[in-house]
Amino acid sequence: MPDRPHTRPAVLVARAIFPETVQRLRAHFDVEDNPDDVEWSREELIQRLQGKAGALLTGTQRIDDELLRACPQLRIVANMTVGFNNFDLAALDAHGVVGTNTPDVLTETTADFGFALLLAAARRVTESERYLRAGCWTRWSYDLFAGAEVHGTTLGILGMGRIGQAIARRGAHGFGMRVLYHNRTRLDARIEAECRATYVSKDELLQASDHLVLVLPYTPQNHHIIGAAELAQMKPTAVLVNIARGGIVDDAALADALRTRRIAAAGLDVFEGEPAVHPGLLEVPNVVLTPHIASATVRTRRAMADLAADNLIAFLTEGRALTPVNA
Ligand code: DGY
Repeated sequence: MPDRPHTRPAVLVARAIFPETVQRLRAHFDVEDNPDDVEWSREELIQRLQGKAGALLTGTQRIDDELLRACPQLRIVANMTVGFNNFDLAALDAHGVVGTNTPDVLTETTADFGFALLLAAARRVTESERYLRAGCWTRWSYDLFAGAEVHGTTLGILGMGRIGQAIARRGAHGFGMRVLYHNRTRLDARIEAECRATYVSKDELLQASDHLVLVLPYTPQNHHIIGAAELAQMKPTAVLVNIARGGIVDDAALADALRTRRIAAAGLDVFEGEPAVHPGLLEVPNVVLTPHIASATVRTRRAMADLAADNLIAFLTEGRALTPVNA
């Protein structure tokens, strides 16, 4: 019997993800995946993308003109992340390739983690745990790991998208905080009221915040938006939290500000050049460091993988991506 004509599109799943999600893709496509999570070089990624109409990515693979030229059959790149700074949007548009991300499904989970870092840094959770584990705890004392108050203080949010708003709601409704925010555009009054958040200038935000949480997307304009000059404007008692992207903060300047106690503490989930971490940050005790896990609950990561897969399925079978980031 002659072979059936081979018409199913081919897709690449570039990193290990939930086997159930890969199975769902196999119902529609010829799938090449990476179950052993091998670290492919860019050249290898390009080679594996040959003949593929779609790719499920994890936000770490740069998709630019050079790659798209080398992969002319590629029609959709689906990130399993809400951030999409790995996409050169102009190049995607020029090559007629759709990029997608995973908004909404991770908003509340990521906001929870922003608060976890804020609380851990302000209340010196990891620093005191290290002390206890090292056998240093011999008796109670009045100022042992006395940290910064959280409830009733002023929470600043830089970047007031979905995650920023979810953090504002936690601060205002859960912790009785005064919430200030700065954003490229001011939110409409209904959302401001719901989040109990007040729009201020960036300078005012830096100067007035007891806790400043960064939740803005990485763009070239936002590169080092928090550097030495901005840290110098913050209260010496302030806590800085970055759950956005490395590169938004000048990590060398931050390490210096933490070492000299220019600010009190920081909680960082993202780093310039991650997974490498600036050595100055590893040396100071007053920073909580986590390996880019703000969205990492089992349920949320599964929802992110499934939404990325659904984008591939919807686009390659019906011509309509669910959550496109370009036209
Ligand atoms: C995102 O979704 O952009 C998060 O940073 C997880 O990688």
